[in-house]
Amino acid sequence: MCGIVGYIGDKSVVDILIDGLHQLEYRGYDSAGIAVKCEDKINIYKAEGKLENLSCVLTTHKSEYQKATMGIGHIRWATHGAPTVVNAHPHTCNCGNLVIVHNGIIENFKELRAQLELKGAKFKTQTDTEVVAHLIAYKYADTKDLTKAVQLATKEIEGAYALCIMHNEEKDKMVATKRNAPLLVGIGEGEFYVASDVPAIIKHTKKAMYLNDNEIVTLTKEKMVLINSNGEELQQKIETLPWEPVALSKMGYKHFMLKEIHEQPDVIRNILVGKIHTSEEPIILNEVKLTKEKLKELNRIQIIACGTSLHAAMIGKYIIENFCSIAVDVEPSSEYIYRKNVTDSHTLVIGVSQSGETADTLTAIKQAKAKGSHILIITNRPDSAMAREADSLVPVSAGIEVSVAATKSYVAQLVSFYLLALYMAEIKESLDESLIKSLKSDLTQIPQKIEQILSHKERILECAKKYSNTKDFIYVARGINYPTALEGALKLKEISYINATGYPAGELKHGPIAMLDESMPVLSILMKGSVYEKLLSNSEEAKARNARMIALTNSKDEKLKDLFEFILEVPDVQELLSPIIAIVPLQLIAYYIAEYLGKDVDQPRNLAKSVTVE
Ligand code: F6R
Repeated sequence: MCGIVGYIGDKSVVDILIDGLHQLEYRGYDSAGIAVKCEDKINIYKAEGKLENLSCVLTTHKSEYQKATMGIGHIRWATHGAPTVVNAHPHTCNCGNLVIVHNGIIENFKELRAQLELKGAKFKTQTDTEVVAHLIAYKYADTKDLTKAVQLATKEIEGAYALCIMHNEEKDKMVATKRNAPLLVGIGEGEFYVASDVPAIIKHTKKAMYLNDNEIVTLTKEKMVLINSNGEELQQKIETLPWEPVALSKMGYKHFMLKEIHEQPDVIRNILVGKIHTSEEPIILNEVKLTKEKLKELNRIQIIACGTSLHAAMIGKYIIENFCSIAVDVEPSSEYIYRKNVTDSHTLVIGVSQSGETADTLTAIKQAKAKGSHILIITNRPDSAMAREADSLVPVSAGIEVSVAATKSYVAQLVSFYLLALYMAEIKESLDESLIKSLKSDLTQIPQKIEQILSHKERILECAKKYSNTKDFIYVARGINYPTALEGALKLKEISYINATGYPAGELKHGPIAMLDESMPVLSILMKGSVYEKLLSNSEEAKARNARMIALTNSKDEKLKDLFEFILEVPDVQELLSPIIAIVPLQLIAYYIAEYLGKDVDQPRNLAKSVTVE
């Protein structure tokens, strides 16, 4: 998390830094700050809270920085130390000559701090980053060379970092480096940009260089020099970014989340183009690089992901096991990385991630890769760190998702899993041909069905208002829609802060049923199919405990009116595809409740879009 930017050139730096930070706001928004080289000193400006607070601070200092053409900036998601002005980056050393911005976590900061304090470093913040400022400053005092100082200091640092550094005595120089955190340099005419991610630089240049771990880049207006951790000069790998600058606009919607929910039908259409031609023809998925023979032999898959992507992975497990009869384990990446697991070269490991940068998933993928597994990555960011680790890369092509709560990327991940599972089923001949045909044909009908939901939102709004005063909310489902219940609950809790939980309905009686009374809404995801009757019985049990029963259903059964006080109907769909339909009203319920309660829908408290710390 956290986003860093830097600029060196001839242009007015502050606007470039602020705009760059604005593009990186998805990485955090607890506080923001910049440092700019002004005449003979470096000025630092910081503010607590959203970036707009920093812009307000800057308006009163314009005369100081108007001519500045070099600077660094940071947008923070707090890890060490509260999100205060003092803890906001950039951080400095004792004399204030060195300034630094950092994304990541310095794991040995306590030991380093103790050593540096003995040498006379005066710490002003609770951050881990400040140790790096002091450490580099001490190395600089010895070497009088910023690049050398960074090279020596980073050898003593453990953990993850992307750093951008300036020193007042190094008139026109900026140094940047990284380890286990993303960083790239944008290359212009007589100017360079540094950023955690492409959106911060793409409107200025498409020419860029991604830094590899432990590489150090030194930038002056005229040139860039790349070295490794031993100081040896490296060849620069400059590439053209496969991106067009996009104006991130809400297109008339009140929030990005609502816009992104409405984009879902087109996102699905885009994904299906070129993959399903007719229901008679085989699925085309050239992105999968495992040979057909290997796919046929495959008897184990592990899927690793976090948060919403984990819920998509759980549905992925259900359909792969159902369509392909291959055993699939799904595990949160943060658990996978800290236990002995039996991944091996015969296991296909699938990593699922919207951002492609989530630290836990990235680490898990690297561990699996080291064990020889084929790594298949499903991501919305084909230029991400995870994509670079992939043996097979399946881009979900949902377009940039701005809202912190994932919606369209989730639906896109689901569709990618359907394509993958059907593709494997066709190769393995593991599923009845007529079922494959009907799944392919019905998949292409899903966008219209979502459009039907989106054009009749009034009833969903009514539902949201009716239950918006609740403190707790339970979602239940069985079978393929159990992960839908988890995802519906996650959406509600992350943007409205209501304590929402998803349960497999059959588990209610093993404990959670104790919480039910006349104040508790229980939403049953009641899609016709193999577990419909079972879920109906579980809903009866909840109703018998006076819970406020809500049904999300494609059934027209009149009996439901006796059991449920509120019924939300969705278009009919076969059970195996129902998660793609069922999630849409749940996204909207979460959206409308949060909006009704006046919450910050697109940037909920304490969260960040890209979680680049473990
Ligand atoms: C929830 C949400 C998060 C992410 C999680 C993983 O709406 O967005 O739970 O799903 O942080 O992120 P990615 O998919 O980028 O790995």
